[in-house]
Amino acid sequence: MRLLYKLFFLEVKKIVRGSKKLLVLGIETSCDETSAAVVRDGKLLSNIIASQIKDHEKFGGVVPEIASRKHIEAISPVISEALAAAGVSACDLDGIAVTRGPGLIGSLLVGLSAAKALAYGLGIPFVGVNHIEGHIMAVFLEDRKPAFPFVALVVSGGHTHVYIVENYHTFKLVGQTRDDAAGEAFDKAAKLLDLGYPGGVVIDKIAKNGNPAAYDFPRAMKDSEDFSFSGLKTSLLVMLKKRGNPFHPEEMPDVAASYQEAIMDVLVEKTLHAAREHDIRRVVVCGGVAANSRLRTRFAEAAGDAGIDLFIPPMILCTDNAAMIAALGEILLSGGRNDSLQLNAVSRWPLAAAS
Ligand code: KG4
Ligand code: ZN
Repeated sequence: MRLLYKLFFLEVKKIVRGSKKLLVLGIETSCDETSAAVVRDGKLLSNIIASQIKDHEKFGGVVPEIASRKHIEAISPVISEALAAAGVSACDLDGIAVTRGPGLIGSLLVGLSAAKALAYGLGIPFVGVNHIEGHIMAVFLEDRKPAFPFVALVVSGGHTHVYIVENYHTFKLVGQTRDDAAGEAFDKAAKLLDLGYPGGVVIDKIAKNGNPAAYDFPRAMKDSEDFSFSGLKTSLLVMLKKRGNPFHPEEMPDVAASYQEAIMDVLVEKTLHAAREHDIRRVVVCGGVAANSRLRTRFAEAAGDAGIDLFIPPMILCTDNAAMIAALGEILLSGGRNDSLQLNAVSRWPLAAAS
């Protein structure tokens, strides 16, 4: 009899799913944050993030083996906490979305396996989503949403990519980094300056008291839609070698502010150039580096001057989180996506240029 009731409820849920009001659990374990979130009808009900920063700090970067182990420890409590904070139980869910890639394979597999097990046990669909697409879709959790098409700059630890987003499924790549990502440029500089990990957060903080024009760092590839940040990192290394000794703590704010400004000049200039070139008046900036305070100010100023509508998710939805995965999952599930339980994780996964 209980089984009959369950089947009946699942049929009712399928009808409700047709009306696009889904209750979706999102799971994110692509790097060093274990996160679970619940979204209903485009509204965020909970977003729990267990950071592993403390576990990787002493190594100066993410250690993949440690990351996988920590995800295994955290995944069940984080999911339970996300459901409790949303005031729902697992049986209420209509579907599950999980990051399938890109990311660290061992880490991705923890989230993917948890999602599959839950979906199978509950008899509901699940969808494996692209982490970068998730970063872009975080903006749809806000009340003020961009209309399509829009230009999206994704700036994270592994990505510095500019896309024209035509709709929920079509992403045209118009520029990307040829070497390091902007987040890497922050992280590597922090390492060279012995400022700790994660570099972006530390440099952002120190730079607040510095003069962004104090040092002259290079702005690469001025006449291209692509980016390059490895020369910037090298110029800092050369500067340090020439000096022969580390910067004095009193000099650090000026170094951090000038280095950060070189990154910001390039990000702002190339993103707004893409908007102009393609005659698009809406720009989304997302990914971990979009949590940077100077980035938010610089883009707001430049977009204001150019008459462009700017959309940057709140800081907590810029760095890795499962809310963005649940948001994207709801879009895909309401379109009828239901991935096979055979789905595997992928370390690299370019966004789709056409639907
Ligand atoms: O999106 P994310 O959390 O993970 C990836 O998908 O890579 O981005 C992480 C990157 C790191 O390189 C980190 O240093 C950078 O985002 N980041 C920042 C800030 N917060 C995180 N960079 C600059 N300023 C920040 N406030
Ligand atoms: Zn990310």
